[in-house]
Amino acid sequence: MKVLGFCCGRKNGNTEIMMKEVFMAIEEKCGAQCQLVRMQDAEVNTCIGCETCMTNHLRGNFDFRCVHKNGSDHVYFIEQLMREADAIIVSSPAYNLLPTGALIKFLNKLHATGDYREVTHKNHKVGAAFSLGGTDWTNFTLSTCKMIAMEMCGSYDSVVDAVHFDFMPSSGAVLLEDDVLARMHAMGENIADALMTKENGEAADYKGTPGVCPDCHGNLLEIREDGWYCPQCNTKADVTMSDGKVTVAFSDEERAKNRWNPWGQELHDNNIRKGHKKAIDGKDIIQEKRKKYTAYERAVVLPELVKE
Ligand SMILES: Cc1cc2nc3c(=O)[nH]c(=O)nc-3n(C[C@H](O)[C@H](O)[C@H](O)COP(=O)(O)O)c2cc1C
Repeated sequence: MKVLGFCCGRKNGNTEIMMKEVFMAIEEKCGAQCQLVRMQDAEVNTCIGCETCMTNHLRGNFDFRCVHKNGSDHVYFIEQLMREADAIIVSSPAYNLLPTGALIKFLNKLHATGDYREVTHKNHKVGAAFSLGGTDWTNFTLSTCKMIAMEMCGSYDSVVDAVHFDFMPSSGAVLLEDDVLARMHAMGENIADALMTKENGEAADYKGTPGVCPDCHGNLLEIREDGWYCPQCNTKADVTMSDGKVTVAFSDEERAKNRWNPWGQELHDNNIRKGHKKAIDGKDIIQEKRKKYTAYERAVVLPELVKE
């Protein structure tokens, strides 16, 4: 069995130490082969938004990967490691309340790459996520890492553990926090258990920090005109307050409309198809109206860079 970890912090920094503690527990408990990708070292081309991957994907052409060819960056290499992994762990420090840009940039490149999504939807991997911050200004970090783990592993059900820690600003600060290292060790044991449970053909339980959403275990809620929603799963919540206590409930009917289940994915793909069809039908209008905006050029000319 193979385990792949994404580390987005400093080399030998807190995230990497925490990941290695997780690995040590996995290796001890089930002997899986563990390796990490240091995202700060990975070259990742910026997604140019051409949508060629998505249009090919929607046509069922899963051979197409990206207009950026294999070898022009590390994406194909890392994606191959993801394909071979039985478990994927996504970790990041908080950078401006979010996971680091390196992780998000990589995620963009996975938009609709070949048949990765099809393969993982049919055969989920075991997933886990963790994050940390220098302070407690970290609101979107863990939930985004979890979402990325879910994208990489095939479903929210596949994420078996997730945890976040605050107030560790300096590199190596985590080494002063024995409880954090113990929790990371427990995450490794949970992942090893889940791998062994999966080998027996059973589904593993979620052992991470509980949240209000029963699917993503997140605590974020979004206010819309007609009520409250889990912004990750797009599931409508029933929020009540009594004696100063907030209660959040999600009905089975609403959970069936979770954006990550096959129904939600199909709806999303169809919405993209509909959007593209509208643009194809209206291409002459777009072409004509675009002229005014193309002629109105206000972009700065970026200077040549001196390569180090
Ligand atoms: C550009 C940048 C932005 C950061 N933004 C946040 C933040 O929004 N909230 C926070 O708690 N810590 C923030 N930090 C601190 C890191 O999360 C913290 O230093 C962490 O320990 C880094 O982990 P590492 O040792 O694995 O690199 C930021 C650090 C950097 C470099």
